[in-house]
Amino acid sequence: MTLDVARLDQGGRLDVARIKADFPILERQVHGGRLVYLDSANTSQKPRQVLDAMTRYYEQSNANVHRGTYLIAEEATAGLEGARAKVASFIGARSSREVIFTRNATESLNLVAKAWGRANLSAGDAVVLTELEHHANIVPWHQLVDEIGIELRWIPVTADGHLDLGDLDRLVDGAKVVSFAAMSNVLGTILPVERLVSAAHDAGAIAVVDASQYVPHLATDVQAWGADFVAFTGHKMCGPTGIGVLWGTEAILDATPPFLTGGEMILNVTKEGFTPNELPWKFEAGTPPIAEAIGLGAAVDYLESLGMDAVRAHEVALTSYALRTLTERFGDRLTIHGPSEPAERGGVMSLVFDDIHPHDLTQVFDQHGVCVRAGHHCAKPLMRTMGVAATARASLYVYNDEADIDALGDALDAASDFFAI
Ligand SMILES: Cc1ncc(COP(=O)(O)O)c(C=O)c1O
Repeated sequence: MTLDVARLDQGGRLDVARIKADFPILERQVHGGRLVYLDSANTSQKPRQVLDAMTRYYEQSNANVHRGTYLIAEEATAGLEGARAKVASFIGARSSREVIFTRNATESLNLVAKAWGRANLSAGDAVVLTELEHHANIVPWHQLVDEIGIELRWIPVTADGHLDLGDLDRLVDGAKVVSFAAMSNVLGTILPVERLVSAAHDAGAIAVVDASQYVPHLATDVQAWGADFVAFTGHKMCGPTGIGVLWGTEAILDATPPFLTGGEMILNVTKEGFTPNELPWKFEAGTPPIAEAIGLGAAVDYLESLGMDAVRAHEVALTSYALRTLTERFGDRLTIHGPSEPAERGGVMSLVFDDIHPHDLTQVFDQHGVCVRAGHHCAKPLMRTMGVAATARASLYVYNDEADIDALGDALDAASDFFAI
C-alpha cells in the first residue's frame, strides 16, 4: 500500500484541506454559502480521481467486456477485472473469484437470501438478525418467512446502542443463518463481528455480514472475520452508484445456485438447459456495470492512498470533537443516540433536538448549506426500539473537518432561534 503523503500532515493525519480539494462538489455554493456535506452514511461524495477514471473509460475504452477481441474491448475487460482485483486486495479476499459485482449492497443481500437461502432453508429454519439492521438485511428474509416459512430471531439492542449479547447462545442455537451489520447506519455502533461469526459457526449457522457502513471507514479483512458472505456498496466509499459487492468464500459461492440468469453467467446453453459460468461470473448476469466497477477501483486506490488507519483515526478524532462540542453547546436539549465512546462507533450521529421534528430541523440546516438526512434511515425496527419515529443523522467522512461540525452547531442554533419564534 502506498500512502499519499501529499494528503497526510506531518503527524500522519489526514490533511483535510488537501482532501477537500479532490472533491469538486465541495467547491459548490448553496444558498449563498459553502456546501457542508454531512450525509456520507447515505452516500459519499466522489473525488476527481474516480470521476476521471470513469470519464477516461467512456472516452477511451468504452466497449463490452469478456467478448471483444479488439483493443478497446480488451482494455474494458482489463479495467473491470483490474477493479475486481483491487477490491479483493482491499478487503483481504483470497482471490478475485470471491468478489461478485452487484448493483449495490441491497442486491448483494438479496443474492444471499434468494439464491443461498432458497436452496438451503426450509420451513421452521431460524435466521438470526439484530434489531439494528437496515431494511436491506431484513426484507429479503421477511420474504423467505412468507415463501418458505423460516423463523426470524432478533438480537436486541441496549439503550446505549450496543447489542445485548446476554441471550446470544440461545438465539443462535439451531439457527441456519446469523446476518448482521458490521456498523449501524443509525447509531454508528461497531458490532463485534468476529464474536458473532464464531457464535454462528459454533451453532452450525452461516455468518453474513452487511459491511456497507464499515468497509468505507475501517480497514477490512474478510479472512480475519471468517464470515461466509460480506456485502457492501460502492457509493458510500467514494465510488459511483450502481455497483456493490458480495464477497463469499469460494466454497459457499460454488455451492450456491445462480441468482439472476441470462447472458454472461453461463458456460453453455442448450435447448435442454444451461451450465453456469465459473466464479465470479456465475453471479453476474448480463452486461456488468463496467464504468462503475472502474470507478470503484479508483475509489479503492484513493482510500488506499490515504491509508485506512488514517481514515479511521480521523473519524475517531472528529467524532470525539463532535460529541464533545455539540454536548457543550446544547446540553440536554440535544440527544446523540448511540455509544458515547468514539472508539466504539463510527462517525454516524443520530440527533434529536428539543421537540423539533427532524425533517423541520434538516430544512433549517439546508438553509445554512448543511446537508443532513432526516427520517427512519431504512431501519424502522431499530427506530421503534429507540422509541423515536425519526432522527436527523449527521455522518462524517474523510473530507469533513472541525469547521463542518461547527457549522452543524451553528445550524442547530439557527433552528433553535427559528422554532422559538
Ligand atoms: C447498513 C446498510 N446496509 C445496507 C444499505 C443499502 O445500501 P444500498 O442502498 O447501496 O444497497 C445501507 C445504505 O444505506 C446501509 O447503511
